[in-house]
Amino acid sequence: MKTLISIAIDGFSACGKSTLAKDLASMLDYNYIDSGAMYRALTYFAIKNNLISANFFHKNLLINKMEELDIGFVLDENDKNCITLNNNNIEDKIRSIEVSNFVSKIAEIHEVREKMVKIQRELGENKAIVMDGRDIGSVVFPDAELKLFVTADIDVRTKRRLLELKNKNIVVNFEEVKKNLIERDFLDSHRKDSPLIQVEDAIVLDNSNLTKEEQLIIAHNLALNKINS
Ligand code: DC
Repeated sequence: MKTLISIAIDGFSACGKSTLAKDLASMLDYNYIDSGAMYRALTYFAIKNNLISANFFHKNLLINKMEELDIGFVLDENDKNCITLNNNNIEDKIRSIEVSNFVSKIAEIHEVREKMVKIQRELGENKAIVMDGRDIGSVVFPDAELKLFVTADIDVRTKRRLLELKNKNIVVNFEEVKKNLIERDFLDSHRKDSPLIQVEDAIVLDNSNLTKEEQLIIAHNLALNKINS
């Protein structure tokens, strides 16, 4: 029987982690979990329920309401893993710039992280999983057999995110997206609870000058080495 491993992919915003994680999971026939989608889902809920805006943040109310929320994933008709909130597929609602602007505030709350990490560990208890995020190698799966830390130049990341948003008919400009990425990188790396860090046993993958196919081949070979070792 083949050895099953856990693969943690962490890194800055919009550096291609999700694309890599998704493609790698598909090559290995593993589950793919986008942990950022879970924080985005909660942020979407907070915005919709008037718990957060530019002027206020009802943090304790959100923590209380969170108890009633069921956050999970479902496969859609194209076999794409989609985030659900109380069994509603909200995958197409969580990538807006509004959600992106508030998500770091939500993701820094201790109670929120506790809830998410618990779900993430349950999803990964049988291994055969590729999960991407900020604290996967450091907190969620500290024993993951393969840990990657993905990074890329900020302008390259901005262009990629712009293209992704454009393909979803979301109109934003370069500077707006770049500012959001820089702010989120700072907040994600400097928060008290589970900040984004490059753990010692992570392999750094700078993909500024790599195509996604080249990056995938590198990651796949690293995974096969672990599986076969
Ligand atoms: O991967 P993403 O950009 O969709 O993630 C959205 C936000 O969620 C990100 O700015 C920080 C937060 N996040 C986190 O704190 N921990 C994770 N494991 C994943 C995401």
